Amino acid sequence: MSSKHTVSATRVIPIAAAMFTTVVGLTTGITSCATAGSPPVAATGGVVSASKWLEYTPEGKVKRPPFNLFRKWVYIGTPLTPNDLNDGKANFPEFHNVYMDPDGFAHYEKTGQYRDGTVIVKELVSVGDREASSGNGYFMGDFLGLEISVKDAKRYPNDPGNWGFYSFGHSYPLKEQSSKNKVEDCNTCHEKNAVSFVFSQYYPILRAAHPAKK
Ligand code: HEC
Repeated sequence: MSSKHTVSATRVIPIAAAMFTTVVGLTTGITSCATAGSPPVAATGGVVSASKWLEYTPEGKVKRPPFNLFRKWVYIGTPLTPNDLNDGKANFPEFHNVYMDPDGFAHYEKTGQYRDGTVIVKELVSVGDREASSGNGYFMGDFLGLEISVKDAKRYPNDPGNWGFYSFGHSYPLKEQSSKNKVEDCNTCHEKNAVSFVFSQYYPILRAAHPAKK
């Protein structure tokens, strides 16, 4: 059943990865990436994405960003909601490694604002070992899941904050594509409890990047 998916995924990812690596290399310290060729942006029903970092299907679903793309983005922090402090099952298990696309981070550093096109990836990782030679604690185990948020005023003109939220699952195999979540399932809590929809209060790297913002 899923073998077909696996085959096509392994074929597609190296190509996408090569494109993305080129883009990352060329955009480091350079604002324009015109020389990197066409960014992997798919126009959907005439809508052009504000971010070059995400690909959409013609139906408007988001394709799961390749691991070797976002894991090289700017790492901003790791909230931890271990299952054993959450009645055995945290809503978002357990470590949440959070990355921001390089364009979004550069803009935040300068302005303290999230630019149109910002993509944030939260990769869920299990708690593995509980003790190490450094002491007792929580040490990362296996990759579990993936969620993203993306700000795009053209694609999400009616969503609070113009943010779209997507989940690729909380256990492997992850979905290859995801439809947008409902506003009440994601945007509402982010609007109420975060700062401009992003929980920068839990990301020391964002706080350090623009100290005037919390
Ligand atoms: C009840 C509140 C709540 C709901 C509902 C919620 N989140 Fe979050 N989300 C948080 C909190 C708190 C954090 C930061 C701390 C953490 O990760 O535990 C966060 C962080 C994130 C991040 C990292 C970027 C950021 O904004 O800090 C993403 C991506 C994310 N959530 C996606 C989702 C998606 C997708 C949904 C809907 C399926 C969702 N969230 C629903 C509370 C919520």
